Amino acid sequence: STGYRIAVIPGDGIGTEVIPAALTVLKALADRFGFSLHFDHFDWSCRRYLETGRMMPGNGLDMISGHDAILLGAVGWPGVPDHVSLWGLLIPIRRGFRQYVNLRPIKVMEGLPGPLRGSEGVDFVVVRENVEGEYSEIGGRLNRGFPDEMAVQEAVFTRPGVTRIVDYAFKLAATRRGRLTSATKSNGIVHTMPFWDEIVRERAAEHPGVDWWQEHIDALAAKLVLTPGAYDVIVGSNLFGDILSDLAAAIAGGIGIAPSANINPERTFPSMFEPVHGSAPDIAGRGIANPAGALWSASLMLDHLGQADAARALLTGIERTLSDRTVRTPDLGGTATTQEMTEAVLAALPA
Ligand code: NAD
Ligand code: IPM
Ligand code: MN
Repeated sequence: STGYRIAVIPGDGIGTEVIPAALTVLKALADRFGFSLHFDHFDWSCRRYLETGRMMPGNGLDMISGHDAILLGAVGWPGVPDHVSLWGLLIPIRRGFRQYVNLRPIKVMEGLPGPLRGSEGVDFVVVRENVEGEYSEIGGRLNRGFPDEMAVQEAVFTRPGVTRIVDYAFKLAATRRGRLTSATKSNGIVHTMPFWDEIVRERAAEHPGVDWWQEHIDALAAKLVLTPGAYDVIVGSNLFGDILSDLAAAIAGGIGIAPSANINPERTFPSMFEPVHGSAPDIAGRGIANPAGALWSASLMLDHLGQADAARALLTGIERTLSDRTVRTPDLGGTATTQEMTEAVLAALPA
């Protein structure tokens, strides 16, 4: 049967609790749908950093470049500065494997009302630029400890980088409800954004079937809260997309359920699937993390691997579980454990 090799990196904190949940469900789906999954486990994490001085081995990327996909929990732990854990693992994978598209879908599920009025039926995707923009390596801290201490960072927006993410978003919108919103800040204060807008306008001409418009990021944040149902696909820069995706998760009930796919569309390198949330040190070790974000990410992975039926079955299982009020983790107002919710998803998979 068809088989896939998955590089599994649970990472830190609740990453090590939600990834085993995802593996349990993935195994069940592989059996049911007749494909095989081979998991290679990597202990790359802050724990490893404290023991060895590195988040991952120097040839870490080579070790996983031949895998069909990467499943990641979260990285980051108190005691290891975030810039060390992130530049030492997460960012090198996203960049090294040219995962320039970060897809972050969100849905308000029936039976799991979001905190907002009028959010029934909300279903949109944030398409986040994932390798350039505000998250650049150009800059640093200067004059540390002196009165004129400063921090500088250059935002980097390249024509090819903006073009490919905008094109991806237009194409995705064309397969959905045909509506695209570009998150911007074009009032000329931020130099990079009028450039972004120009490219969006150029690419729009190639996608006449898509109804598109742009909104300033600040106003967009407000409108997402007031009229979340107005959106289908939202395309944004690295930082704008980051912020919008947590906002979107909250609209759907909490960041514990939100998934993400770091995609290398050319498939020259593996893509990486990870929940939107982090390692949650405040609840780690108690077995109560919401596994839904990791499970939904696993569904995105199955879809990417070409197992669309299994992907859809998993999403249905997650939706049924979240919509049924009986088995929910504390972040959603329930008392269930990670394991209980995972078992509920398994039981809710369509026959
Ligand atoms: P976080 O997402 O870890 O936690 C924010 C809040 O949401 C916490 O109160 C947490 O308990 C709660 N939460 C998050 N996921 C949950 C889940 N599945 N179930 C229930 N509750 C959940 O964000 P943070 O506190 O800003 O960051 C903590 C660490 O994680 C930092 O080191 C940060 O750098 C790292 N981080 C890593 C990633 C990643 O690896 N992709 C993403 C975000 C943050
Ligand atoms: C995310 C996270 C990361 C990001 C951090 C941890 C660097 O917030 O995946 O959304 O900003 O990309
Ligand atoms: Mn984020």
